[in-house]
Amino acid sequence: MNEFGNIDHKIYQGDVIEVLQNEIKDSSVDLIFVDPPYNIGKNFNGRKDKWKNDEDYLIWCYQWIDLLLKKLKNSGSLYIMTSTQFIPYFDIYLRDKIEILSRIVWSYDSSGVQAKKYFGSMYEPILFCVKDKNKYTFNSNDILVEAKTGSKRKLIDYRKNPPRPYNTKKVPGNVWEYPRVRYRMAEYENHPTQKPISLLERIIKASTNEGDTVLDPFSGTFTTSYVAKKLKRKSIGIEIDEDYSKIGIRRVLEQFKLNGEDLNPEPKTYQIKNVQQQTLFEAKQEYEA
Ligand SMILES: C[S@@+](CC[C@H](N)C(=O)[O-])C[C@H]1O[C@@H](n2cnc3c(N)ncnc32)[C@H](O)[C@@H]1O
Repeated sequence: MNEFGNIDHKIYQGDVIEVLQNEIKDSSVDLIFVDPPYNIGKNFNGRKDKWKNDEDYLIWCYQWIDLLLKKLKNSGSLYIMTSTQFIPYFDIYLRDKIEILSRIVWSYDSSGVQAKKYFGSMYEPILFCVKDKNKYTFNSNDILVEAKTGSKRKLIDYRKNPPRPYNTKKVPGNVWEYPRVRYRMAEYENHPTQKPISLLERIIKASTNEGDTVLDPFSGTFTTSYVAKKLKRKSIGIEIDEDYSKIGIRRVLEQFKLNGEDLNPEPKTYQIKNVQQQTLFEAKQEYEA
């Protein structure tokens, strides 16, 4: 296990169970966002996201779920994801231990063909849970979205006395539409399942206040810690892979070298092409001068 960072932002490069057991105090975290391997065969830098059978995957998940519940404060919130095929198991396992307040669908479009002989998967489920349904943070005013009846159609609600215009803003429902992170987006990092900044912004704004601590036990590209820092929250990120942890060291700790290694991302192919085009253009200009 390797540890990086400072008191406000910590990065642990190591195994989730080991770090949770040995490094994180019980009842110390305000918000946990969990986006684990989904057991669907992704390739995490050579580490296979596929267990021998479903039971083995679930036994492993229940182990870190139990630990996470211990780390959460009594007033804390947990957002937990997995694939559509495994979320029912998480739901049933969690509902006796914590209050599940929302079953969220993160919906996105895809220009590519998903499936030809069945309905392709275009969403990922998220369970929003709290330890105490009478005492948890939910900053509804910080996450309001447009309410079209009032804002676009400008309708008046005549059932009210006196009649008044419909609200122009509302608290979002449980279907969230955010595009997936694509290669050409500025936030893109080299990781197969990077979550968008916009998704984490809504979660962190809703469920924490400035100075609160946010934990992400499967950090990947460290989007959670990056957004937490931007919003003046504290962060703890755990990630087993060394290369992904370096993304965190750059994105969260804003450290661009580690033991002499440059942590800046590779230029994107279209940027290289532009550079080549630029060079050709300059060469032509020089030739013509
Ligand atoms: C679904 S991805 C998380 C993506 C992340 N939410 C993001 O926005 O980039 C799951 C991550 O868990 C990491 N991981 C897998 N097994 C782990 C373990 N035993 N301990 C810690 N991290 C692990 C993988 O390397 C992968 O980066």
